[in-house]
Amino acid sequence: LVVRVSATDLDAGMNGKVAYSLFQGGEVSQPFVIDKTTGEIRLSKELDFEVTSFYNIEIAATDGGGFSGKCSVLVKVVDVNDNAPALMVRKLTVPIPENSPETLVAVFSVSDPDSGDNGRMVCSIPNELPFLLRPTFEDYYTVVTEGALDRESRAEYNITISVSDMGSPRLTTQHTITVQVSDVNDNAPAFTQSSYALSVRENNSPALLIGTIRATDSDSGPNAHITYSLLPPNDQQLALTSLISINADNGQLFALRALDYEALKTFEFRVAATDQGSPALSSQVLVRVLVLDDNDNAPFVLYPLQNASAPCTELLPRAAEPGYLVTKVVAVDRDSGQNAWLSFQLLK
Ligand SMILES: *[C@@H]1O[C@H](CO)[C@@H](O)[C@H](O)[C@H]1NC(C)=O
Ligand SMILES: *[C@@H]1O[C@H](CO)[C@@H](O)[C@H](O)[C@H]1NC(C)=O
Repeated sequence: LVVRVSATDLDAGMNGKVAYSLFQGGEVSQPFVIDKTTGEIRLSKELDFEVTSFYNIEIAATDGGGFSGKCSVLVKVVDVNDNAPALMVRKLTVPIPENSPETLVAVFSVSDPDSGDNGRMVCSIPNELPFLLRPTFEDYYTVVTEGALDRESRAEYNITISVSDMGSPRLTTQHTITVQVSDVNDNAPAFTQSSYALSVRENNSPALLIGTIRATDSDSGPNAHITYSLLPPNDQQLALTSLISINADNGQLFALRALDYEALKTFEFRVAATDQGSPALSSQVLVRVLVLDDNDNAPFVLYPLQNASAPCTELLPRAAEPGYLVTKVVAVDRDSGQNAWLSFQLLK
């Protein structure tokens, strides 16, 4: 029931009996009906403030004799908070590169067809994320990065934008945008050890695997794709490339030929690990190879001489006592350690 109208007629009988009717103009039919005897105006369907906020109802009261009077009822529709805010993303720039200063991520607009506080909106994004929400003009907002992002610590963010109106009850709309952070080649390969010490027994078989050098790169894609290479040794005398080779893909080191402890006891060189970023980054590590001795040299008698044409002759005095020093055998062994300890005995 919107309102009850009433009219009077001074005549008697049929001439004084009033019937009420709505006077529908040219405009689309109004959502009202009138009881022709009581004059009660009731709603015939729900009203929608967002479609029509104001009606002018024209009413006619007609008596049995054909006379009629008119009046108007003005109806104002009161807004109810029946529309949640709407959010529209206008522009989304993803992925965004890491290490960039403040970068525009998204532009969006908000709207709410309700009126007054029911249509007044506040917007927010979570505080803990490194993004800022900036109002631009009217109902437009931008989301920008707070500063440089680091893909290696976090490569993806879900930012939930909340828009609430101030109506009662408050209606809230949420929209989540996913922001990927793209990689920049900002990490050089890192070796798993600060230096490598490898050992190989001499007289090894050629192409023997003597160890593996490993490096990792926390970037992604080509920026993390590592190739290994030998660097020219500081020692110009060392023919490194004829001694050692490295597998560029996996860092495996091979001794190319049999090593000889007696000729080369130890040597060192540097390995570079280079990623495929642009520009590429690279790191170096020192590798020291220790050749282990094998007992591959027989003792060599220096004295008495082995190649003398005549057998060695020692002269003894006739009166030599027991214990007299006859001669001293001198021998050497080119091996090292226990492999070079000598013991002497007379053969039977
Ligand atoms: C972001 O949301 C998507 C979809 O719900 C989910 O698969 C992904 O794991 C989320 N990412 C993060 C970093 O929370
Ligand atoms: C015998 O060998 C020694 C040591 O190898 C060498 O110095 C010397 O000239 C050789 N003598 C003869 C006669 O071959």
